[in-house]
Amino acid sequence: MELKKGLLVFFLLLECVCYNVESKCVKGCDVAFASYYVSPDLSLENIARLMESSIEVIISFNEDNISNGYPLSFYRLNIPFPCDCIGGEFLGHVFEYSASAGDTYDSIAKVTYANLTTVELLRRFNGYDQNGIPANARVNVTVNCSCGNSQVSKDYGMFITYPLRPGNNLHDIANEARLDAQLLQRYNPGVNFSKESGTVFIPGRDQHGDYVPLYPRKTGLARGAAVGISIAGICSFLLLVICLYGKYFQKKEGEKTKLPTENSMAFSTQDVSGSAEYETSGSSGTASATGLTGIMVAKSMEFSYQELAKATNNFSLENKIGQGGFGAVYYAELRGEKTAIKKMDVQASTEFLCELKVLTHVHHFNLVRLIGYCVEGSLFLVYEYIDNGNLGQYLHGTGKDPLPWSGRVQIALDSARGLEYIHEHTVPVYIHRDVKSANILIDKNIRGKVADFGLTKLIEVGGSTLHTRLVGTFGYMPPEYAQYGDISPKVDVYAFGVVLYELISAKNAVLKTGESVAESKGLVALFEEALNQSNPSESIRKLVDPRLGENYPIDSVLKIAQLGRACTRDNPLLRPSMRSIVVALMTLSSPTEDCDTSYENQTLINLLSVR
Ligand SMILES: Nc1ncnc2c1ncn2[C@@H]1O[C@H](COP(=O)(O)OP(=O)(O)OP(=O)(O)O)[C@@H](O)[C@H]1O
Ligand SMILES: *[C@@H]1O[C@H](CO)[C@@H](O)[C@H](O)[C@H]1NC(C)=O
Ligand SMILES: *[C@@H]1O[C@H](CO)[C@@H](O)[C@H](O)[C@H]1NC(C)=O
Ligand SMILES: *[C@@H]1O[C@H](CO)[C@@H](O)[C@H](O)[C@H]1NC(C)=O
Ligand SMILES: *[C@@H]1O[C@H](CO)[C@@H](O)[C@H](O)[C@H]1NC(C)=O
Ligand SMILES: *[C@@H]1O[C@H](CO)[C@@H](O)[C@H](O)[C@H]1NC(C)=O
Ligand SMILES: [Mg+2]
Repeated sequence: MELKKGLLVFFLLLECVCYNVESKCVKGCDVAFASYYVSPDLSLENIARLMESSIEVIISFNEDNISNGYPLSFYRLNIPFPCDCIGGEFLGHVFEYSASAGDTYDSIAKVTYANLTTVELLRRFNGYDQNGIPANARVNVTVNCSCGNSQVSKDYGMFITYPLRPGNNLHDIANEARLDAQLLQRYNPGVNFSKESGTVFIPGRDQHGDYVPLYPRKTGLARGAAVGISIAGICSFLLLVICLYGKYFQKKEGEKTKLPTENSMAFSTQDVSGSAEYETSGSSGTASATGLTGIMVAKSMEFSYQELAKATNNFSLENKIGQGGFGAVYYAELRGEKTAIKKMDVQASTEFLCELKVLTHVHHFNLVRLIGYCVEGSLFLVYEYIDNGNLGQYLHGTGKDPLPWSGRVQIALDSARGLEYIHEHTVPVYIHRDVKSANILIDKNIRGKVADFGLTKLIEVGGSTLHTRLVGTFGYMPPEYAQYGDISPKVDVYAFGVVLYELISAKNAVLKTGESVAESKGLVALFEEALNQSNPSESIRKLVDPRLGENYPIDSVLKIAQLGRACTRDNPLLRPSMRSIVVALMTLSSPTEDCDTSYENQTLINLLSVR
């Protein structure tokens, strides 16, 4: 207890030292933003490389100013970066830049880094001859940052390093940020915001459009937990990066593949920024005001009934691609994009309609994206079209090539990532409640995407989430949910376990052994029995999808089966979280020699030994 109190005091002191003494620092903060002014013809790839960020992360913070993957010229992008305490002297971050032929300190500061750094700072942190930087030389590019100032306000803890440009002034910047001009001035004492050069610090918002307070957590304990979590996050992120590199180079030597970029994009969203979901801050007026309306794609996510009817040939049978519990699904090409339109039979609650807007902002590589909706007559949901149907069709249907084992593990990992994302990184967090092979769609690269999350809210009335009506599919529902309607993320974990069993056996979640429901047997029981045999490898072998032939490593199959069992335990508390499932599955999806998997194996072992 004493120790904890001591620690708390220590942390508080640390922060006081850090935030109150202006020129010296003790520690930095997790995130600051660089306001990067986009010159024409700059690609997101370039900006991401310069700023040591990723395209996905940049998009997640700047949706308004990016169109079809291209940043809008003459607009600013807010790019997150860690704010360090450099040499105990000042807050900043040193980016490592690889020089091109002809670069000078002047061009690096004014052009490449858009005045986020200065020639003075470049000179100070690099030993090169001022006008002779060799091509490919490593240049230390220092960008100043701020973590806030408790004497000005405790309401703001995340700051944008904002290079002033011609045309800027205090009034406009304050208006744009919807902040008080005097407050901005107090954060930048003595600075003339109209001076057209130099940088100022202005409070920044998170992806939900909210300002982040200076001391978000009240107790030392919570802080400790947060540190633990972020360390865990960083560790798993590093592991992922290492693994990806291993994979990337291995693949490069062998056959060509497009995988890595997509992979790394999905990862960085999760791990660096936490959530890729945010709300637009109602700044749609800026486009026309600056005469750039033409470039700015209309952001409205609402479609008219007419538009949908036209694109689906009046919801004709030829366009129908599926039928589910909520209604029929139609294929349509809308505004140049392939889409799947879900025509809902049920009446939507007002609550759900409010949530739709938020849902359209949830983006993740392993989630089927909700593009928009229409509420004329009935409710229509417009999703991105996923080319290869659903996992159930692959496993139980005919007419598709059988999935190789490695592809199955990849799809398991993909869906686990999608679920982990909605469980932990979106705001609000979602519980899917209808995880099943029919809701895992397969894209053209045979990667998995989770469909229909957030839809269960549709039939919830007036906020009474419990005991209203069970959503879900028989065979995938855990006992606590089927019996008492208890809802937790572990409901999805259970259903995910059933999907793992399906991937192994290609059997349906519910096997018909007789006429009535009572005579049917679930996959869970079937696998439970097999795993309890004295020689589980042998008994599991008998359950493996015959279409795999002999082409599967039994070790890997057994591990997935054991993971399935951990997921489908009766007691929800004993089931692993989606996060640890992701880590466990990563070891199994094409492990590489270059990647030290001992940590992950340990995790897998820990996970499986939970009883
Ligand atoms: N975005 C999409 N892209 C391509 N096909 C889709 C898309 N969404 C749905 N489908 C197809 O339409 C079928 C029906 O989908 P739907 O979600 O209505 O029913 P379901 O998944 O079988 O059951 P549930 O209503 O419980 O989700 C899916 O199984 C899938 O094959
Ligand atoms: C987009 O750019 C404008 C003009 O540079 C800027 O005011 C605005 O904050 C930017 N929006 C986002 C979401 O970054
Ligand atoms: C950086 O500042 C210089 C003037 O100091 C200006 O000419 C240049 O356009 C600025 N660069 C960017 C990208 O804003
Ligand atoms: C960049 O900074 C590092 C660490 O401060 C230093 O070791 C290195 O020499 C610097 N690079 C150049 C080119 O000066
Ligand atoms: C960045 O911080 C350093 C150290 O406080 C200071 O000397 C420099 O002028 C600052 N640069 C900018 C562009 O604000
Ligand atoms: C700020 O600078 C602008 C342009 O240099 C000048 O016109 C203005 O008077 C200055 N404002 C103050 C308060 O010094
Ligand atoms: Mg579905």
